[in-house]
Amino acid sequence: MSGFEGERIAKVIARAGICSRRDAERLIGEGRVKLNGAVMASAAVNVTARDKILVDGKPLPQKESTKLWRYHKPAGLVVSNHDPEGRPTVFEKLREQLPRVLSIGRLDINTEGLLLLTNDGELARFLELPATGWIRRYRVRAYGHIEDAALEKIANGVEIEGVKYGPIEARVESGQGDNRWLTIAIREGKNREVKRICEYLGLQVNRLIRTSFGPFSLGDLARGGIEEVPIKVLKAAVGEKFFKGNDADRRRKIQRT
Ligand code: URA
Repeated sequence: MSGFEGERIAKVIARAGICSRRDAERLIGEGRVKLNGAVMASAAVNVTARDKILVDGKPLPQKESTKLWRYHKPAGLVVSNHDPEGRPTVFEKLREQLPRVLSIGRLDINTEGLLLLTNDGELARFLELPATGWIRRYRVRAYGHIEDAALEKIANGVEIEGVKYGPIEARVESGQGDNRWLTIAIREGKNREVKRICEYLGLQVNRLIRTSFGPFSLGDLARGGIEEVPIKVLKAAVGEKFFKGNDADRRRKIQRT
C-alpha cells in the first residue's frame, strides 16, 4: 500500500473509540493488532477502507456518532482507567451511564469541576493539543498572602522548575484571613499546573474547581452530574471535520471485514 494513502492505523483505532492514539500504538507494540491477518510489527502504517483490522482478535466496534459530555467531577475520583492504588475512578463511576469514553485531559484526584468526556479518541487528542489552545478556567481556594505584583509577574508566562507556562490570567476574588479565592485561566494542560503556579506564588491550594474548558462551562451542572453537549453546539465549537464521513461512512471505511 502507498504510504500516502489512507490514514495512520493508530488514528483509525482511536477514532473507533477503543482508546487514545497513543494507547493504540502501545497495543500495536504489544502485538495485539492484526492487519489483514498478520500481527503488526510497527504503527507506521497507513490503512484504507480495504484493510481488515483486528484488535485482540476482534474487529473495530461500530463507530457511534462523535459525542461530547460535560461532567461535574466530584473530589475523590481518579481520572484513569485503572488506579494501581485501587482508588475509585471516574470511569467506574460512569460505566452504567455512558458508553466507553475518554477524558479530555485529566484532573487531579481532589480537583472538582468540569471534565469533558468523549467517545472519539481523535477529538480527545485534538482538544488536548497545545495548538488548540482552549482556555481552562479555575476557581482556586488557597492559603497564603498574595500581592498584585506577583499576579502581574505571571501574566506573561513563567518558567517553574524548568517547565514553561504561557500567559496566566490570575485574579483575587475574595478572601478572609489567610484563605483567598482566586480565578486562574490558562491555555495549557500541564500536570498540576494550577497547584505549581500557586506554589510559585507562595500559596497552598486547598480547593480547586475547573469552571470552564474552551467554550464549555460547568454552569449549574450538579456535582456528579453529566450532560451531553448538543451536536449543533459541538459542531460549532470544533468544526465539521469530526463529523465528515462519520457514522455510516466511517463505519464502512474502518469496519470493512
Ligand atoms: N491544575 C492542577 O494543579 N490540578 C488539576 O487537577 C488541574 C489543573
